[in-house]
Formats: sequence, structure tokens, C-alpha cells
Amino acid sequence: MSTFHLVDHPLIQHKLTLMRDKNTSSKDFRELLDEIAMLMGYEITRDLPLEDVEVETPICRATLKRISGKKLAIVPILRAGLGMVDGLLRLVPVARIGHIGMYRDPDTHEPHDYYFKMPPDIKNRQVILVDPMLATGGSACDAITRIKQTGCTHITMMCLVAAPEGVKKLQEMHPDVDIYAAALDERLNEHAYIVPGLGDAGDRIYGTK
Ligand code: PRP
Ligand code: URA
Repeated sequence: MSTFHLVDHPLIQHKLTLMRDKNTSSKDFRELLDEIAMLMGYEITRDLPLEDVEVETPICRATLKRISGKKLAIVPILRAGLGMVDGLLRLVPVARIGHIGMYRDPDTHEPHDYYFKMPPDIKNRQVILVDPMLATGGSACDAITRIKQTGCTHITMMCLVAAPEGVKKLQEMHPDVDIYAAALDERLNEHAYIVPGLGDAGDRIYGTK
């Protein structure tokens, strides 16, 4: 069974509250999302494996630690996931970036994919899939299915706000994928928007509504 990690550091909660406010501008919304992505990155990379390395410091030779194991790939679900990439890249600047284009049908709320481009060695990388909103879970589940088709076996989902419905669906469909979120909200409304949520993340990032 996958684990749901609530990353509720006070700084993250404070910034997320600012983002939820409908009067927050697109500029501030983007900056806050970027900052939260970086703060969440500390938690999501906590279990990266380390190996010993010999280093000559100015004082002596020492056995020290460096990150080992699989390399990372950050994969945003377009559009809104793009807003979380730079924050993570500041922590792991050598990570490769894949892109998955998806939009939800406004009536059925079913996801439709329109773009898929991964680094060539994706199956050897640990993937962090990023999207601010985990609502019905349809987009994340389909994205993970597509990534797994490349042979990739280590995927983690990072979102900002999750709905219980989306967490349940993702855990049932992909029990091997852990979820990191800054908030677990109450429910979905009749339009499959998260309540209280923050509205349409893509529109708020890009000012398209
Ligand atoms: C939003 C969001 C997720 C999806 C979540 O994208 O960024 O990708 O909805 O909903 P779900 O869990 O019910 O699938 P949207 O379809 O609005 O596309 P956009 O980012 O291009 O605006
Ligand atoms: N997509 C969003 O951007 N917001 C929601 O609340 C649900 C899906």
C-alpha cells in the first residue's frame, strides 16, 4: 500500500493559505507555488540513498557522504505542474525533466492526454510526478500508467492540495506510488473541484481566467 505523506511545515501552511485566497495575484500565486515546491522537495528527497566517498579536505582525508543510486527525473503534468518544477530543480539541478500534457474534460472530468516526452533513460530514473491538484485522481493515475509503460519502476507523486477521492483512487490503482501533499482537503464539489481548494490551478498560475 502506498503511503500518504502530509508535508505540513508551518511555512508551507502559511504560504498555501495565501495561495488559496482568491484575491492573490497570478504573480504571487506562481511565486508561492515555486517556494512551496522547494520546501516540499526537502521532504520528498529525504530518503535518497547515500554512499561513502573519500574526500581530501584542507585538514585531512575523510570518508564522507554523497547521494548514490538512481538519478532523478521531474515530470510535471501540464500545465499546472510546470509551476512546481523550478523549485525542485533548485534542490536537484541535474535532474532531467519529462513532460506530460493532460487536460480534464469540463463535463466528464475525464483526463485527455496530448503530449508525452520523457528523457531517453527514464526507466533507470526515480520519477517525481508533480501537479498541484490531485482531485478525482484521473490525471495522476493516467500519467503514472503512461510513465510505467516506459519500464520505470520508482515513481512518487507530489501535489499541493489533495482530495480524499483522488488519494483513494491513486492508492488503489498504483499502490506502489507514495503521495506527498501539503494539504488533504474535505471533498470534491459537483464540478470535481477541490473544496475548499484554490480554484483552477492552471488558470491561477497563468492568468487565463
Ligand atoms: C488540473 C490539475 C490536474 C487535474 C486534476 O489540470 O492541474 O492536472 O486538473 O484533476 P483530476 O485529479 O480530477 O484529474 P487541468 O485539467 O485543469 O489542466 P490545466 O493544468 O492545463 O489547466
Ligand atoms: N483542477 C484544478 O485546477 N483545481 C481543482 O480543484 C480540481 C482540478
